[in-house]
Amino acid sequence: MDAITALTERVSVAQLTGPGPSQQQLEQLYTAAFRAPDHAWMRPWRYLTIRGEGLSTLGDVFVEAALKKNTDLAEDKIAKLRKKPQRAPLMIVAIANIQEHAKVPAVEQRLAVGAGIQNILIAAYAMGLGAIWRTGEIVNDEHVRGALGLKESEEILGFIYLGHVNCKLKKPPVLALEDYVQEWPLNA
Ligand SMILES: Cc1cc2nc3c(=O)[nH]c(=O)nc-3n(C[C@H](O)[C@H](O)[C@H](O)COP(=O)(O)O)c2cc1C
Repeated sequence: MDAITALTERVSVAQLTGPGPSQQQLEQLYTAAFRAPDHAWMRPWRYLTIRGEGLSTLGDVFVEAALKKNTDLAEDKIAKLRKKPQRAPLMIVAIANIQEHAKVPAVEQRLAVGAGIQNILIAAYAMGLGAIWRTGEIVNDEHVRGALGLKESEEILGFIYLGHVNCKLKKPPVLALEDYVQEWPLNA
């Protein structure tokens, strides 16, 4: 697939199945992530690959986190939460490591990691894989952060679910240029 097709036609895929990306595909996905624009080459990212038993363990961590906040959680909610990481055969946790820098504010470091995540999504699409970027309140949960080994300076920017497409791909919406793009200075 050529780059422009991947860039303009990529869609997120929520229904994913195994097998997960091969080791070679995974390495390509990370190589694509590492080509994100990155002011001062700070490399403000760190990625965790989670698969197999790791996904069940993460489900347990999600449940523990929820139970710490609400001990009365209903059984069906607990079961749903435990299964969340298993919605795909592989998950990448994208982490931003925010550091003090005279010229690169935190927002630029987060954007660099976000660009890396987008590169993963586009590369996955180009390889015929499905992927979706998810977050939720769970990214800021102290129990989840601790279980994943985050340092004080680190933030979870995304859980990227990856696998083979298990549904019909949706059609990407077509947005009208004039709704989002203007020439400047504006013509009177
Ligand atoms: C920072 C960020 C967080 C997101 N979190 C979620 C999420 O928790 N759950 C979800 O269903 N979609 C989430 N999305 C949206 C999906 O990743 C996806 O972009 C959306 O469903 C639109 O589909 P499309 O990418 O095919 O246009 C998030 C997107 C971004 C950029």
